[in-house]
Amino acid sequence: MSKQTYITLNDGNKIPQFGLGVYMVPAGEETETAVRTALDLGYRHIDTAHAYQNERSVGKAVRESGVPRDEAWITSKLWPSECGEGKTAEAIDKMLDRLGTDYIDLLLLHQQFGDYLGARRDMERAVAAGKVRSIGLSNFESDRLEEVLDAATIKPSVMQVECHPCYQQGELKKRLASYGTVLEAWYPLGHGDAGLLAERLFTKLGEKYDKSPAQVILRWHIQEGTIVFPKTTNPAHMADNIDIFDFELTDDEMARVRALDCGRRYFTLGLEEQEAALSAFVPAD
Ligand SMILES: NC(=O)c1ccc[n+]([C@@H]2O[C@H](COP(=O)([O-])OP(=O)(O)OC[C@H]3O[C@@H](n4cnc5c(N)ncnc54)[C@H](OP(=O)(O)O)[C@@H]3O)[C@@H](O)[C@H]2O)c1
Repeated sequence: MSKQTYITLNDGNKIPQFGLGVYMVPAGEETETAVRTALDLGYRHIDTAHAYQNERSVGKAVRESGVPRDEAWITSKLWPSECGEGKTAEAIDKMLDRLGTDYIDLLLLHQQFGDYLGARRDMERAVAAGKVRSIGLSNFESDRLEEVLDAATIKPSVMQVECHPCYQQGELKKRLASYGTVLEAWYPLGHGDAGLLAERLFTKLGEKYDKSPAQVILRWHIQEGTIVFPKTTNPAHMADNIDIFDFELTDDEMARVRALDCGRRYFTLGLEEQEAALSAFVPAD
């Protein structure tokens, strides 16, 4: 089994730095098989969301895996339609029910829309009630981040945003530094972008370490101190992706990957377009 690395969050909880993301994995057998395979391979962290509509399958696979509940880290996320004092408390109870668990390890506000300040208050109450262990944010890249940081009694333990070698989030890291909030990368492999995976530097480093370009990119994230959960349902990719704890990029190699940062995002909608697109969707219970 691969050696996992853990990061101690600003609330003292220890999160496995590497996991599996299940965005766009259909609920039912496909999600259950992916999560079960991952746990068998030594994965101990699953990233889901109400919006992914596969929380029930994630919870079932974790329960049936034989991995003790306190060794498996489950992250899920609240959609803007669930945000607001009172409403969020109910949404958390429904989430616990869908996941079939007594607590959620990490609960995030998925998007910077809706009554996120009211939602934060209920999330903090859920921590006090033992229903949630850690709380954080996702996609709060506008000045709404500072609004939440000012209002929060419990500072966010993580911030989950698009992050990969072409978009490394240096400015956001500076905004978060004094809060001890750790970056989680979505699209860690550029959503599987063929151009990113074919980048010459990753091929060369892969040859040196006998690893694939994807493994080199994931190793770079790990050494940057970022939390990653690449999505795959391909068992060979799943085994490869966790096999990154037996080599180390040198300082010079880390710097060469950092030099690839070119400000290129794969997700390019502006704030207003995002709000319009996302409000059109309300996840089913
Ligand atoms: N908070 C948010 O708003 C947000 C948004 C997006 C994503 N996320 C989270 O971040 C996770 C990861 O993002 P993502 O799934 O969109 O992108 P990603 O992990 O960067 O890329 C996934 C793609 O890479 C391919 N892939 C995986 N491992 C590979 C390997 N070893 N070699 C070659 N190709 C490989 C996968 O194909 P195969 O399945 O064929 O391997 C898939 O097409 C999501 O599952 C979700 O948990 C969060």
